[in-house]
Amino acid sequence: MFKNQLKLTNFSKTRLCWQLYQASTSQRLTQTRQFRVAVVGAAGGIGQPLALLLMTNKLVTELALHDTETTQGFGKDLSHISTVCKVKPYFGETELKKAIDGSHIVMITAGMPRKPGQTRDFLFDTNAPIVARVACLVAKRAPKALVGIITNPVNAVVAVAAEAMKKAGCYDPNRLFGVTTLDVVRAEKFIGEHMNIHPYDVRIPVVGGHAGTTIVPIFSQCQPPFEGDEKCIAAIVKRIQTGGDEVVKAKAGKGSATLSMAYAAARFTNALMRGLKGKACAPECAYVQSDATDAPFFSTPLSFGKDGIKKNHGLPEMNESEKKQVKVAVDALKKSAAKGVEFMKK
Ligand SMILES: NC(=O)c1ccc[n+]([C@@H]2O[C@H](COP(=O)([O-])OP(=O)(O)OC[C@H]3O[C@@H](n4cnc5c(N)ncnc54)[C@H](O)[C@@H]3O)[C@@H](O)[C@H]2O)c1
Repeated sequence: MFKNQLKLTNFSKTRLCWQLYQASTSQRLTQTRQFRVAVVGAAGGIGQPLALLLMTNKLVTELALHDTETTQGFGKDLSHISTVCKVKPYFGETELKKAIDGSHIVMITAGMPRKPGQTRDFLFDTNAPIVARVACLVAKRAPKALVGIITNPVNAVVAVAAEAMKKAGCYDPNRLFGVTTLDVVRAEKFIGEHMNIHPYDVRIPVVGGHAGTTIVPIFSQCQPPFEGDEKCIAAIVKRIQTGGDEVVKAKAGKGSATLSMAYAAARFTNALMRGLKGKACAPECAYVQSDATDAPFFSTPLSFGKDGIKKNHGLPEMNESEKKQVKVAVDALKKSAAKGVEFMKK
């Protein structure tokens, strides 16, 4: 099924767009208004490089940068980059509303990252209230905005956001996304290295969630077909599932993946904006409300349109080993979602 989607979506063309936008310096000042993107948690390790990448995307004409730390300094710094994008810095709880108002997309990266030895789940108590507050405000102030949640544990806080938005009286499952693009980016990179091909030419759906064994790369649908035996697949699957730990360990207490995550989030934001503009884009996987499995939220390939999700392509065809991995993921993801729902009942 995924193979067919690739033929239809003219993948090389959209990849070229992704490459081109990063180098786009020839924007005209007469350009019509495109999208306002808010980054909440903008002063952080992911927020700053994400803001930089979004500045260079010609679809972004206004960038709202919010954090509980000041965003004035790096906001001013970014504002000198010669693109038409305007930078609006916001600071502290009281300015969150202003940051969100009028935004087409809100990317949430606010919250604590992992330290060596910590699981993503360990972050729940700290990060769930942050995500709940931002989601609630988005529901009230920018109900049509598309919301990308980067903050961990993604598997549980997306459910927190959904419940917060329901409570605020405005939840649209087509507009809420847990950002799992980094797992896809890692899969493309590691497979590209193994097969000695450019990672841009690798396509592989990574389904499930965003933590350990809930991350399920579907090697049987890899394009071009994966070259390697079961042992080799198992080793790369393990590396994709523990890629975050690899970075946390290498940073030795100074945070988790930031630059690769910013790259992944910028790519995902670009796909959302192309959808908003009605332009074609290759499907991207994201963790969304879903009936693909028994888990209430599940990541599968999605196409985007003017109202967020245009089509959920569902689970790709899988071999027996992949089906077993999905079952393990579903059991864990049901528990994560329940934890998020339970938190919002308190
Ligand atoms: N989805 C993924 O694939 C993925 C990958 C890597 C990291 N992450 C997660 O992203 C999150 C951010 O990581 P980081 O490395 O940028 O952390 P960081 O500590 O460098 O930055 C977080 C920022 O959030 C800000 N913040 C905290 N509370 C806030 C609030 N209430 N409102 C606004 N801003 C607030 C902080 O001041 C800080 O600037 C972490 O939870 C991390 O685990 C997710």
